[in-house]
Amino acid sequence: MADIRKALLSKFQRSNLYSNFGAIIKSMTINGFRGISNLRLDFEYPITAISGTNGSGKSTIGQLAVCAYRQPQTNKKYKRRYVKDFFPVSQIDPNPFTANATVKFQYATNTHQLQDLTVSRKATEWSGYKRQPERHSFYVGFALYIPKVERKDLSIYKSGSFEIGAKRIISDEIKTQVSNILNNKYDEVAFQAITHRNRSIELGLVKKYGYSYSENNMGFGEGRLMYMIDLFENEPDNSLFVLEEPETSLHEDAQYKFVKYLMDVCNRKKHQIILSTHSSIILDALPAEGRKFILRDANGVRILDRVSASRAKSILTDGNTKALVICVEDIFALLMLREAIRKLRPGLLPSLQISPMGDTSAVANTVKLLLSMRVKTIGVRDADIGENYSEKLFKLPGTLPPEKEVYENLNVQAALDTKYDINIATIFSLQSDIDHHDYGKILSDKACCSEETMHLDAINAYFDAVGISVFDRLMSLIDNEV
Ligand SMILES: Nc1ncnc2c1ncn2[C@@H]1O[C@H](COP(=O)(O)OP(=O)(O)O)[C@@H](O)[C@H]1O
Ligand SMILES: [Mg+2]
Repeated sequence: MADIRKALLSKFQRSNLYSNFGAIIKSMTINGFRGISNLRLDFEYPITAISGTNGSGKSTIGQLAVCAYRQPQTNKKYKRRYVKDFFPVSQIDPNPFTANATVKFQYATNTHQLQDLTVSRKATEWSGYKRQPERHSFYVGFALYIPKVERKDLSIYKSGSFEIGAKRIISDEIKTQVSNILNNKYDEVAFQAITHRNRSIELGLVKKYGYSYSENNMGFGEGRLMYMIDLFENEPDNSLFVLEEPETSLHEDAQYKFVKYLMDVCNRKKHQIILSTHSSIILDALPAEGRKFILRDANGVRILDRVSASRAKSILTDGNTKALVICVEDIFALLMLREAIRKLRPGLLPSLQISPMGDTSAVANTVKLLLSMRVKTIGVRDADIGENYSEKLFKLPGTLPPEKEVYENLNVQAALDTKYDINIATIFSLQSDIDHHDYGKILSDKACCSEETMHLDAINAYFDAVGISVFDRLMSLIDNEV
């Protein structure tokens, strides 16, 4: 999993962006749509998941994004989308956008410069469409796939008289993907054309465990997933897909596997995917670069980069009741800081909220946002990152990432060796190139304990080895803030 995440990230760098993905949207700035003004969104990964509370503006972003491209000259059948399709004006909705609304797109180009283009409201029309790059863009909203039983199309109301047309059998590769995501062993996946007079539709059709059934007897998650995968695999490379809450009707394990599949298909076909979601499973399956949290309050709409919704939400609900929010990078940093404070200022812990944010940039971004909302906040980042006092970003003691400070300390290793009857020097020497984030996992597997127990024992052995006073400086900085 880690490999595909990284492989995809390395294909999405400035130098190779266009050669891999074509004229993808690198940023968009929205002004004057559904209460959103001057909101800039940077795309840092081929897949961008936008989370946030209901009505924050997730769909608005996706809907504007599908309007960023002209119809490809080579495909006359494909119909592009326009802003007016998504923002209808009527007596009851007179102002879904302001009179001078704009959306500015920045596209990747083959010159390493981004191409700027703005679609803006001119009198009674939208202008700017003509100079847009060409690209197939698809909006997979809630209505795109409605089970045919609920739609009551001709496969239902003409069930006695329709004719069977061609059957499009889906490749083994796609069949394996769908089977794997849903944990269902399909023997065949196909789309069956059925016609009545001059009307024709396609109906999903699968075989499993010796029986076969059509979309009309499929689960909703099953049908919708099949429909989406057919699009990703069979539409041209370098397409844009906007997905509305793709977790709908998928069980948790399927959501995780679905994201894994999205990374795989983007790696193969170089698509760009923008999705709205409320699923922390989907968010956590993506690397930090693929996560955006959108926030709407009395001050407007803002974007928090690289932060998952569940983390941001817990801060927003609990943060206001605490004397100080401390954002750290990950669980290990959280445990280390909490144990140090427990030793130095035990009475202070209940009034602190210490939250792991995912990575260094998520710490910096969250601190900035919370400070702008007047929530008392500091960041404590890993020691190798350094400090920035004016931005309230402090660091853990030492010079290395905390896992290295702790697990590479020889006194710590001796204490853990004794307690768990293991030999850390040997364990580490047998595996070359261990990522320090995996130290706790590797040792806890050998020692038959949980990772968190191993971390806590290691951290306490570290305090014994170096003395808790190494935290004095950070502790007094925290005292100053509370
Ligand atoms: N005319 C308007 N003026 C200002 N804000 C609006 C207007 N119409 C809708 N909104 C805001 O847009 C929200 C809907 O945006 P949407 O992108 O669909 O949200 P989400 O997908 O995050 O649930 C509404 O809840 C409301 O806050
Ligand atoms: Mg929505």
